[in-house]
Amino acid sequence: MELEILGRALSTLSADDDHPYRTGPWRPQTTEHRADDLDVIGELPDDLDGVYIRNTENPVHPAQQGLYHPFDGDGMVHLVGFRDGKAFYRNRFVKTDGFLAEQEAGRGLWAGIAENPAKSERQDGWGARGRMKDASSTDVVVHNGVALTSFWQCGDLYRLDPFSLDTLGKAEWGGDFPSDLGVSAHPKVDPHTGEMLFFNYGTDAPYMHYGVVDASDKLVHYTGIQLPGPRLPHDMAFTENYAILNDCPLFWLPEALAVGKYVSRFHPHLPMRLGVLPRRGDGSEIVWFEAEPTYVLHWTNAYEEGDEVVLEGFHQETPEPPDPGTGSLYDRMFRFLALDHMGTHLHRWRLNMRTGKVTEERLSERITEFGMINPQHSGRRNRYVYAPTGVPGKFLFDGLVKHDTVTGAEEYYPLGDGVFGSETVMAPRIGSTGEDDGYLVTLTVDMNRDLSECLVFDAQRLTDGPIARMRLPERISSGTHSTWASGSEIPGWRTADRPEHALGL
Ligand SMILES: [Fe+2]
Repeated sequence: MELEILGRALSTLSADDDHPYRTGPWRPQTTEHRADDLDVIGELPDDLDGVYIRNTENPVHPAQQGLYHPFDGDGMVHLVGFRDGKAFYRNRFVKTDGFLAEQEAGRGLWAGIAENPAKSERQDGWGARGRMKDASSTDVVVHNGVALTSFWQCGDLYRLDPFSLDTLGKAEWGGDFPSDLGVSAHPKVDPHTGEMLFFNYGTDAPYMHYGVVDASDKLVHYTGIQLPGPRLPHDMAFTENYAILNDCPLFWLPEALAVGKYVSRFHPHLPMRLGVLPRRGDGSEIVWFEAEPTYVLHWTNAYEEGDEVVLEGFHQETPEPPDPGTGSLYDRMFRFLALDHMGTHLHRWRLNMRTGKVTEERLSERITEFGMINPQHSGRRNRYVYAPTGVPGKFLFDGLVKHDTVTGAEEYYPLGDGVFGSETVMAPRIGSTGEDDGYLVTLTVDMNRDLSECLVFDAQRLTDGPIARMRLPERISSGTHSTWASGSEIPGWRTADRPEHALGL
């Protein structure tokens, strides 16, 4: 392995920190690395070709009011690239305006999501709530050959070079980027058209917008979606012809909002509303369906079948887990992050476009979330979902399940005590001939051996365990969303003598 230190960030976190999401498997990093030709245990197939990219909440300063929430951490992106049977790794901070301002100041400047925004040192900021630091730490996709990081409360899309992870600036879309509201995490890239579909949300009517950016990075559609009031959507889905937006009954209490407080509550007497809109349709054309009340954090996919739009994702049995009244402040505060507390199950909603009827079915009795599919099946029928299991009571992944949504069969690979995984992508093999003909790629945090690895599995033989493992330069933090981009999606990928030379670096 050839290793180079690319940079270090100033951290003011204390050495005796005891916050569960800044220590142990969530211990943040301050060093940026570039490592080429990673040492491989096992065999790295030469038809695994492209990049795995994962975002991370990686704080470097304490919370202003002492209430750090893991969604407040600064964005750090990890990348493992595979080309010609070799692998390379980089980790870089997303150089957001907020991150740079706090590095300059040497301290945190914005209140976190669990803190009082009125007491934020900086009164400006981003996000649906306003007065937040746009950490761009939630999600990452690759569109038009560039990696884009995003933030769950809406913000800018930061553009990153998909080899070096250098921050290239913000998405501008020729001056049409909706800077007033930003863009939510979970924009969706349709591999069949090269389009990127996105939404945003906020506290002013119409409370949501939906838009389309074409394959050449131009905003070609943007329309308001009228909601009954401010909502907290987190994800969207699409099919060949439709975008699917949602109005889940978990949102800021209107009476609290009226006095400047942001208190999210589940409203079990309200249905979950699912909105189906032609992909280039005006917001007024949206057709709403009513489903059983729940909150859905993540959809896995949607597709069309006869008269039906079929939507799959993770139903929550308990969107607002009750406060047990006992346990540590942190355990109580972060109970919303544990998959078992929310009771997340893979679920299917069938929306009949002719009758308006909704039918629902649970697809698995196992608690999983953060599911990924073969990206070539996005918006089209898919059979398999790859999703992690969670450590009880914690926001940590301890195993990986391959769900067969046709037969209900499941394969499970436990990572073992003290080893935690990441959102795991499915990377189709070059020349792939079937939906599960490819590889699963994830990053681990191994607390037993105090190291991190990249693991590669054969997607058709998950239970056999990894076929290749590569140690990273240091133990990384757990993180959130990830993406896979094949080499063919990245300009210059095949022609450069070294991957980082593809863009002339
Ligand atoms: Fe998410």
